[in-house]
Amino acid sequence: MADSAPLLSVWDLTVTFPTKHGPVRAIDSLAFDVPRGRTLGIVGESGSGKSVTSLAVMGLHTGADVTGSVVLDGQELIGLSDRALNGLRGRRMAMIFQDPLSSLHPYYTVGEQIAEHHRVHFGSGRRAARARAVEALAEVGIPEPRRRAGEYPHQFSGGMRQRVMIAMALACEPDLLIADEPTTALDVTVQAQILELITRLQEERGLAVVMITHDLGVVARVAHDVLVMYGGRVAEQAPVDALFTTPAHPYTRGLLDSLPRLDDPDDTPLRAIPGSPPSLLDPAPGCAFAPRCPRAARGSEEERSRCAAERPVRSGPEGHPVACHFPAYEGVAP
Ligand SMILES: Nc1ncnc2c1ncn2[C@@H]1O[C@H](COP(=O)(O)OP(=O)(O)OP(=O)(O)O)[C@@H](O)[C@H]1O
Ligand code: SF4
Ligand SMILES: [Mg+2]
Repeated sequence: MADSAPLLSVWDLTVTFPTKHGPVRAIDSLAFDVPRGRTLGIVGESGSGKSVTSLAVMGLHTGADVTGSVVLDGQELIGLSDRALNGLRGRRMAMIFQDPLSSLHPYYTVGEQIAEHHRVHFGSGRRAARARAVEALAEVGIPEPRRRAGEYPHQFSGGMRQRVMIAMALACEPDLLIADEPTTALDVTVQAQILELITRLQEERGLAVVMITHDLGVVARVAHDVLVMYGGRVAEQAPVDALFTTPAHPYTRGLLDSLPRLDDPDDTPLRAIPGSPPSLLDPAPGCAFAPRCPRAARGSEEERSRCAAERPVRSGPEGHPVACHFPAYEGVAP
């Protein structure tokens, strides 16, 4: 049974990048919790701030202004020294990325890399660290792990490399795993295997997982709770079933409507939400989704003016907050 106290608690997290054109507020006032044993899916279009969020939690932004609070198991991470953060990264919280090749060193065998990671965090001897590396490769389903530990990253297929990354991330038994688009580059069969692997390891170890994706199909498969991001802010947050059955934010509705349906003819073009994501350099005063929002478009003049002038704040039932002036609770179509 999962402990329901949040392992990760993020509050009012804001990340601003100074650029030559002015400050870019990539994420603004984010708040979410991830309890042990739960997976939070973070979903949103390209540029909505998903990766900036994950890097901020890991303390990996340099040169950005990061404010707010990120508490991991009772410890505040914002403001910690690099040294203290280095001690936590890998050991208490680990991250896997879309492209494993960019995170694996080409000149060292995968066994050496996992072993080194273990040695750094546990101070274990070479022999013990090597044994742990072989064990970790076996746990993620790599056949002949002893032999494969002696091979180099380029000798692995894309799916196998992603398994190596997961083995490396989990070798130090972290409490929190952040996966940023871990399966986007993989074909659908391998993608399904990797998602199953992450879910199995999560259940076995009671990990808290943050799964970042632009794909609602991935969210439906692995997430318990979902955070929908738009323009660096939370649009809607809900348990996964509620998000799919009663989406309350017009943007979430648009994302769901973009999913291919089983009864679509084969030549149906992919649906996308018309319009482009908002500028983060010079954000409009009202709701960031207003220029693309079908609910605002069919509203009264008074409603449209409100959407254009007043930024919506999160409100609604506990467990299903929505940032919209006219959310679609109680079956009203967004
Ligand atoms: N170092 C930086 N300097 C300036 N702006 C940045 C920087 N890093 C990210 N941004 C901006 O922050 C916004 C959010 O970026 P982020 O990488 O989090 O998007 P994302 O949701 O992960 O998108 P994708 O699905 O394409 O990975 C983007 O507009 C991006 O241009
Ligand atoms: S606040 Fe207005 S523009 Fe924004 S999502 Fe809601 S209805 Fe649409
Ligand atoms: Mg990203």
